[in-house]
Amino acid sequence: MNKQAQLLRPEIEAKIDALLSQMTLLEKAGQLTQLGPTMLEGVGVDSFLDDPEAMQKVKLDYHEDWIREGVVGSYLGVQGAEKINRLQKIAVEETRLGIPLIFGLDVIHGYRTMFPIPLAEACSWEPDLARRTAEVAAREASAAGLHWTFAPMVDIARDARWGRIAEGAGEDTFLGSAFAAARVQGFQGDDLADPQHVAACAKHYIAYGAAVAGRDYNTVEMAVQTLHDVYLPPFASAADAGAATFMSAFNDLNGVPTSANRYTLTDILRGKLGFNGFVVSDWNSIGELVPHGHAADRKDAGKKALLAGVDMDMVTESYRHDIPELVEAGVIPMSVVDEAVRRVLRVKFLLGLFDRPFRSDAETESAALLRPAHLDLAREAARRSIVLLKNVGGLLPLKQAARKIAVIGPLADSPFDMLGSWSFTGSRRDVVSILGGIQSATEAEVLYARGCDIDDKLPADFAQAIEAASQAEVVIVVVGESAKMSGEAASRMNLGLPGHQEDLLKALKAMGKPLVVVLSNGRPLSIPWIAENADAILETWQLGVQAGPAVADVLFGAYNPGGKLVTSFPYAVGQCPIYYNRTSTGRPATEFWFTSKYIDGPVAPLYPFGFGLSYTTFEYADLEVRKAAGRVTVSATVKNTGAVAGEEVAQLYVGDVVGSRVRPIKELKGFQKLLLAPGESRKLTFELKVADLGFHNVDMQYVVEPGLFKVWVGTNSAEGLAGEFWLDEADVQ
Ligand code: GLC
Repeated sequence: MNKQAQLLRPEIEAKIDALLSQMTLLEKAGQLTQLGPTMLEGVGVDSFLDDPEAMQKVKLDYHEDWIREGVVGSYLGVQGAEKINRLQKIAVEETRLGIPLIFGLDVIHGYRTMFPIPLAEACSWEPDLARRTAEVAAREASAAGLHWTFAPMVDIARDARWGRIAEGAGEDTFLGSAFAAARVQGFQGDDLADPQHVAACAKHYIAYGAAVAGRDYNTVEMAVQTLHDVYLPPFASAADAGAATFMSAFNDLNGVPTSANRYTLTDILRGKLGFNGFVVSDWNSIGELVPHGHAADRKDAGKKALLAGVDMDMVTESYRHDIPELVEAGVIPMSVVDEAVRRVLRVKFLLGLFDRPFRSDAETESAALLRPAHLDLAREAARRSIVLLKNVGGLLPLKQAARKIAVIGPLADSPFDMLGSWSFTGSRRDVVSILGGIQSATEAEVLYARGCDIDDKLPADFAQAIEAASQAEVVIVVVGESAKMSGEAASRMNLGLPGHQEDLLKALKAMGKPLVVVLSNGRPLSIPWIAENADAILETWQLGVQAGPAVADVLFGAYNPGGKLVTSFPYAVGQCPIYYNRTSTGRPATEFWFTSKYIDGPVAPLYPFGFGLSYTTFEYADLEVRKAAGRVTVSATVKNTGAVAGEEVAQLYVGDVVGSRVRPIKELKGFQKLLLAPGESRKLTFELKVADLGFHNVDMQYVVEPGLFKVWVGTNSAEGLAGEFWLDEADVQ
């Protein structure tokens, strides 16, 4: 059900009409202008990447005079109810029309209670968990005075070199669409005027994750059918869920920058998706139309962006300075400006800002942050984000009989790096490190050594690590990436462990002790040596403030991991982009020389999409496929064949064998997560709508074509019970 219609309320539209009729052209341009505070002194912008407290250390100019002139409609980058209220007071009491400002900020995976990075949380395959964490994030952000978050990021990402893969829900359209809707619902709730919620912002519209070579901000080329079938659906899902705003992206798409692309911003977003909120540009992405080579100067850029469908200008200040001249020169019709202003005012009215411009205060704010219930949810979300990649001989969960445990590695006691990217509203002081979590969870003596840094340039001295390991019965090594190595502008051309971390692992492996590798990273890594040589591997991503307790819960068996990968792990960076829902080619890889393969490595990923182990085992049986009255029903039985209770994500994949455009070998079309007691069986049923089996043909028509379809039900994208069904002409009418 498309909730966009709910954004249109006659009584609000009437108020907007009345306001518009009073506004000057400059005031209208002001409503389309978003500013950030100017840093007067203090720290360099990249220090925000190293120090989440940096925001408190800088001196900022908030341009109060511009607010008084009515030439600002929105702010980003302002934190705290007191600061926000001070600026809002100027807007409401000292401007001619008293139109309130809308304050936005990147609240991507928590405000002060930092949750797992979105890529980690998606490995839970629990959209409702994401809704719940988004709801808490909204509650804290709103208590801090904010009205709007620049989230969820819903970009499909198939290339692990791209650092922003950390911010989304991975490589799959079906799963990404489910998380997009859940996160919008969590942020917005059912009523934007509810002060416990904030407006969401689906970003980065569109296809930003398909940057050539995984290099951030790079160009994007793709078939328009791929745009509609793979990259658009999560945005459509966000719009259907009622997202009040969208953010245009940095990248160009087939030659036209997405912040000046009328086809995507108006024809698709307004025409096809029926979006009734407003579009904000990404940070100076309007100004960047000039270096893109799409605009001659700032004024030309502003004209192209507004006419394409970008309603609010984030920090370029073109709309504020150039739009009035362009309207007075007859280049831009006033009606275009009025429609953009209407959309912005619509969201402000829906948020209730005219009735309640001051959403919170310092006392409310401090009472709302880091509440015990929020920390409990953070631990729950973190546990459910962990993926067990290997567990030889049932090494995990660790037996409590161990007397000495060595905990080694540069990420074992690194609180800031547990926060991941986009965590500047959090604080390293709120984090329980993985070392801290282990120490609190066991009676054993814990011997700690850092071993090396994350990204040593010079060889490290492993002596202390070796010494600690020599005394222990089991060695836990926490390795991976720093928080700064993923997120924006953090593309990598190598996907192995940075620095000398792998050397540290090899030195420890040589000691012959049971080796548990705990990964903390913001993207899939190519780790074939670890896959081969570790006895157990936990993918823990960057889990937020409760990283330590969550990892300890899994290591010692308080929680049986049930996470599944939402991105393929490459065997080597040369495989990127790598994703499961690929097409077959005319020469699928075989032993025969002349087939689609590499001569120096496998075609298959190191770990496939949907992969994840458990402390128990599951078996699938009794696959049935039935077609009746235009619906296809697929059922199977899942049994817990192990000795402990566990959660399994049963996945349904469908492949359209023959298409007028070649179709992916398989695509995720359903998943169910279930908790089974030892020995328990459960029959699962998936209802497939024929309409969900279509694609855009060469004429850009959405079609479902008759023919043979294959189905798989199983534990990941590489294995499962196989079946098939036919659709005939009558089924697809
Ligand atoms: C950044 C990011 C975007 C973010 C915006 C505001 O450059 O691309 O995701 O929301 O600027 O911080």
